[in-house]
Amino acid sequence: MTTKIATLTIDGKTVEFPVLSGSVGPDVIDIRSLYAKTGTFTFDPGFMSTAACKSTITYIDGDKGELLYRGYPIEQLAEKCDFLETCYLLLNGELPNADQNKEFHRIIQKHTMVHEQLTRFYQGFRRDAHPMAVLVGVVGALSAFYHDAMDVSDEYHRTVSAHRLIAKLPTIVAMAYKYGLGEPFMYPRNDLSYTANFMHMMFGTPCERYEPNPVLVRALDRIFILHADHEQNASTSTVRLAGSSGANPFACIASGIACLWGPAHGGANEACLEMLEEIGDVSRVGEYVKRAKDKNDSFKLMGFGHRVYKNFDPRAKLMRETCHEVLNELGLQDDRLFKLAMALEKIAIEDEYFIEKKLYPNVDFYSGIVQKALGIPTSLFTGIFALARTVGWIAQWKEMISDPEQKIGRPRQLFMGATPRNVLPVDQR
Ligand code: SDX
Repeated sequence: MTTKIATLTIDGKTVEFPVLSGSVGPDVIDIRSLYAKTGTFTFDPGFMSTAACKSTITYIDGDKGELLYRGYPIEQLAEKCDFLETCYLLLNGELPNADQNKEFHRIIQKHTMVHEQLTRFYQGFRRDAHPMAVLVGVVGALSAFYHDAMDVSDEYHRTVSAHRLIAKLPTIVAMAYKYGLGEPFMYPRNDLSYTANFMHMMFGTPCERYEPNPVLVRALDRIFILHADHEQNASTSTVRLAGSSGANPFACIASGIACLWGPAHGGANEACLEMLEEIGDVSRVGEYVKRAKDKNDSFKLMGFGHRVYKNFDPRAKLMRETCHEVLNELGLQDDRLFKLAMALEKIAIEDEYFIEKKLYPNVDFYSGIVQKALGIPTSLFTGIFALARTVGWIAQWKEMISDPEQKIGRPRQLFMGATPRNVLPVDQR
């Protein structure tokens, strides 16, 4: 196969770089020899045009609004699989057959409890601590408990760490919620499915048996699927960069949780619901759309826009459907916020500014409304996102660690600061 070549001429010198093609999507210019050949760096703040790695896990086509996990369209996975099947797919590259599926469900169920000492970490937080602060601390603290399987060069250790993280995040997130309420922690129930067990640990109490509503369980399970992975987004790139130093998987996932917390990223669902509450009424939507278009106003419509999707976020469409299902099941068809969100979506996507900037609802736009309807507090929305994204982070981390070409990530810079100068005595400065 002929190799495509990119040619660069700088200071009268012409150098060539190979162009690499993937199985689908944009080609890349392999510039690994650029500095050696030209003494210059590329400059790409925010990595708008940079591929940081090779991957086989998730593919996004922003123009077509396409999202594939290991080649399977998100629409089919959301309809035909459950979250643990999706976890198996992201980790192993293929959907499980019946026996593999049964065994994987069993393995994960055996890891759902946390060490009793870990529960002490919660006592150090104020009851009103933001759940994301608790998750960063507690997930990072897991690395103090699993010295038996933290050799990142050992495939078995990587696999058991992945299982432990997928299994324990629901327990840890539910404990953060209970701690904030002042209610007792609920132990996992292995007779329930992964997501039904999470709802049991969230909303159950020792006083009575809690039986989760299957329609709501299915809706939350689908929300987990939609959030499971998303190529090289900011938090996944953080996990990969942390992992490139050889840091243990628990510390790497804690770094991903910290990055996801930001309102420009996973914190947008919480920010979106707060924005809808602030708008309050459809009559005020125009005022906020106007603010979002005002260059002198830092206000952005939370839940709108995306670095990659310049058409529509396929997850937003599925999330809107899930929203309808949950609100109908709960008799909340006239939910004020949902009606407000649909009005805002209609006005925004018909506005020439949003059309020109290619700004459409993203995964976070409806997820806050459906989670609120499920009884999840706004402050926990990003924690739910982190729970679901843990499988994506750990699958990408495993792929990075086992990539023979991987090196520690160490970007350079365009230095704009002071050039060399001498220190003067203090009385001469
Ligand atoms: C997630 O990367 C991923 O895959 C992330 C994620 C995942 O699954 O991991 O999909 C999850 O993080 C979804 C995004 C959630 N964030 C929000 O909803 C916050 C609001 N959105 C914006 O902050 C913004 O759209 C970003 C951060 C999502 C994307 O930012 P970019 O790609 O850097 O684009 P930009 O900020 O340069 O915007 C381009 C233009 C700008 O105007 P100009 O400078 O060209 O004049 O569009 C404007 C922006 O001002 N713009 C918005 C806007 N988003 C972008 N204007 C109003 N409201 C908005 N929401």
